[in-house]
Amino acid sequence: MSRGFFITGTDTGVGKTLVACGLAAAFKDAGFKVGVMKPAESGCRNEKGRLVPQDAAFLKAAAGSDESIERICPYRLGVPVAPSVAAAHASIRIRPDFLVRLCRDMGAAHDLMLVEGAGGLLVPLLSNYTYADLARELGLMVLVVVGNRLGAVNHALLTLEHAACLNLKVSGYFLNDIESESTPATATNAQTLEEMTRVPCVGKIPFLRPQRRPADAPPEARADLGSLFERHAQLDYLKQIM
Ligand SMILES: Nc1ncnc2c1ncn2[C@@H]1O[C@H](COP(=O)(O)OP(=O)(O)OP(=O)(O)O)[C@@H](O)[C@H]1O
Ligand SMILES: [Mg+2]
Repeated sequence: MSRGFFITGTDTGVGKTLVACGLAAAFKDAGFKVGVMKPAESGCRNEKGRLVPQDAAFLKAAAGSDESIERICPYRLGVPVAPSVAAAHASIRIRPDFLVRLCRDMGAAHDLMLVEGAGGLLVPLLSNYTYADLARELGLMVLVVVGNRLGAVNHALLTLEHAACLNLKVSGYFLNDIESESTPATATNAQTLEEMTRVPCVGKIPFLRPQRRPADAPPEARADLGSLFERHAQLDYLKQIM
């Protein structure tokens, strides 16, 4: 089995790609050869008849990976819904055994693998196979990205407790500030979660404004993402448990 982490989240749009990119950049800066995967990406934009997976492109750039985008993201899907549904719409059958083999092959050529899910833990790749099943079969430790907003405590605890029920090895969670303004919920979620779960918080990521150069570069593409994560994530702990 490969070393590394499977990155899931409390929902879609909570910052899984940002956290995976930050970790990829930070581990790369620390001298690791980092492999990345986004096994299935829905909502790819169509560029001249080709579906372009944006998350996978961010991951590839952050990791400095020379793997092809087709290996990093084998299932590139157009409709913005769960991969099982988007694949059915495109008459594609997702093959988990293929994904597991590919991840193992890539893992053998890298020091660690970072694999990003889609949406949350129970999003289906097939109607009877979710990302939780994939995380288990990949044998990777799980990191949960919690989007810091109203409702995050419930979503985080549901995800962490269900992962524990499934015997997944959850290494920790990231609390990610996806909102630019502080609210009573965002200001207290960190402490509430610390009081309510024994799973460690392995990073608190502040809200990152787009950089002015290049014009409006999204946070995933920031050149300083690695050093930001060195400051805001428990990298030593993650290296230790790998
Ligand atoms: N810490 C942050 N500061 C500022 N913007 C952020 C932060 N984290 C995430 N975002 C922004 O929020 C949006 C959603 O984040 P992201 O795409 O990483 O979510 P995701 O969990 O990967 O979603 P998906 O399930 O679609 O893969 C993006 O536009 C991203 O740039
Ligand atoms: Mg993403």
